[in-house]
Amino acid sequence: MTMNNIPSAPGKFKMDKSPYIHRFRWQYSSLAKLTFWSFVFLGLIVVFFFKSPSTSPPNSMPSDLSRRSLKTSSWGGPAWEKRVRSSARIRSSNGLSVLVTGAAGFVGTHVSAALKRRGDGVLGLDNFNDYYDPSLKRARQALLERSGIYIVEGDINDVTLLKKLFEVAPFTHVMHLAAQAGVRYAMENPSSYVHSNIAGFVSLLEVCKNANPQPAIIWASSSSVYGLNTKVPFSEKDRTDQPASLYAATKKAGEEIAHTYNHIYGLSLTGLRFFTVYGPWGRPDMAYFFFTRDILKGKSIPIFEAANHGTVARDFTYIDDIVKGCLGALDTAEKSTGSGGKKKGSAQLRVFNLGNTSPVPVSELVSILERLLKVKAKRKVMKLPRNGDVQFTHANISFAQREFGYKPTTDLQTGLKKFTRWYVGYYGSGKKGDH
Ligand SMILES: NC(=O)c1ccc[n+]([C@@H]2O[C@H](COP(=O)([O-])OP(=O)(O)OC[C@H]3O[C@@H](n4cnc5c(N)ncnc54)[C@H](O)[C@@H]3O)[C@@H](O)[C@H]2O)c1
Ligand SMILES: *[C@@H]1O[C@H](CO)[C@@H](O)[C@H](O)[C@H]1NC(C)=O
Repeated sequence: MTMNNIPSAPGKFKMDKSPYIHRFRWQYSSLAKLTFWSFVFLGLIVVFFFKSPSTSPPNSMPSDLSRRSLKTSSWGGPAWEKRVRSSARIRSSNGLSVLVTGAAGFVGTHVSAALKRRGDGVLGLDNFNDYYDPSLKRARQALLERSGIYIVEGDINDVTLLKKLFEVAPFTHVMHLAAQAGVRYAMENPSSYVHSNIAGFVSLLEVCKNANPQPAIIWASSSSVYGLNTKVPFSEKDRTDQPASLYAATKKAGEEIAHTYNHIYGLSLTGLRFFTVYGPWGRPDMAYFFFTRDILKGKSIPIFEAANHGTVARDFTYIDDIVKGCLGALDTAEKSTGSGGKKKGSAQLRVFNLGNTSPVPVSELVSILERLLKVKAKRKVMKLPRNGDVQFTHANISFAQREFGYKPTTDLQTGLKKFTRWYVGYYGSGKKGDH
């Protein structure tokens, strides 16, 4: 339902406007003005009524944020439904039909492509928000489109749209990756975290719980839930009640919300705690990505150190290893047990670390990038600000290893080589990296 579908009232105004420029007939002119503005007003009402049923849920939030992000392009109609069905269609025996939220995102793109390659049905959903350059999301969308994956443009808070998707395609699984990511941005725009990571997750679970059959849900939590935990390596049994950022708090909330929906409605739910994922088509707001850009541009890069020159380190995990973990979790997910919005028996509830088990200091990350890019970085050592980032992360992955044979195989040097090759191919190696 775009503006173009509305009867051509705006065109009429233009014709009525012509007497208005007749300087001598000022009385007629003010009548024309009145008519003009009445039409504008009526037009706005018409636009409002045409748009509201399909693009916003009845209980949509009144904030500017939700209005902006729920306002998306048209959906519905037989051609659209055909496209949805075709994208979600399973093309191999025992295949899955997966709704992937956040499909135009970094991880979503790689997971969608991998599922499609092995014959599963995949339908994407993404709101293409501008947290980082949306043209990168569009490029990933174009990539997926070439392998027959359709990404519906919409918000996970749009319950009407979600219901429709489940009506058109009975998904067996949901791979929920849509979220507001980033740790420091939470101080700038806290409500975007509540909107996508809490309200959006609840909207999605509401629709899943009412779907017949209920899908199994795999979703992205984060290593950030370990917060101020100092015991290493981080194991799923460690405490996660000391988040160091609002982002971490919303992911932790997600884990508790997952418990509730599993408990009350019998939804099968698996949370994956990703540890600093990197690779081709990655996220421009992450350090390895903008370090690469700034090193190539000759700009200085901030390298954080903890108190007493303590090392800041991350358990960097290559995207292909994360994808294997996502598929492993999907393939071992048991069916949800509820139906008609009611629980029929207990259902699976899991949480897994997906990391690399080998933390690397950020200064070492920069040294690897220098060697790969053949450019010396201008390092600016700074104190790690206490605004969300933790000093180090390190995953214990034995649980995922036991349950679905998860075993990361790409070290940082090898993975960054693939990343920088992609980066230079995509942005160029010179000043073109400006984006
Ligand atoms: N990349 C990492 O290192 C990392 C680490 C831990 C957890 N995660 C989690 O993994 C998931 C995927 O992360 P990513 O790195 O691919 O991030 P990303 O930002 O590239 O992908 C998220 C996608 O979701 C979309 N989206 C956001 N809010 C939405 C909404 N309300 N409705 C519809 N679409 C929406 C965005 O447009 C984006 O394309 C996220 O849940 C993230 O929190 C990522
Ligand atoms: C890793 O976690 C498992 C439980 O999943 C535990 O048995 C094991 O001791 C942990 N390993 C380390 C090195 O902490």
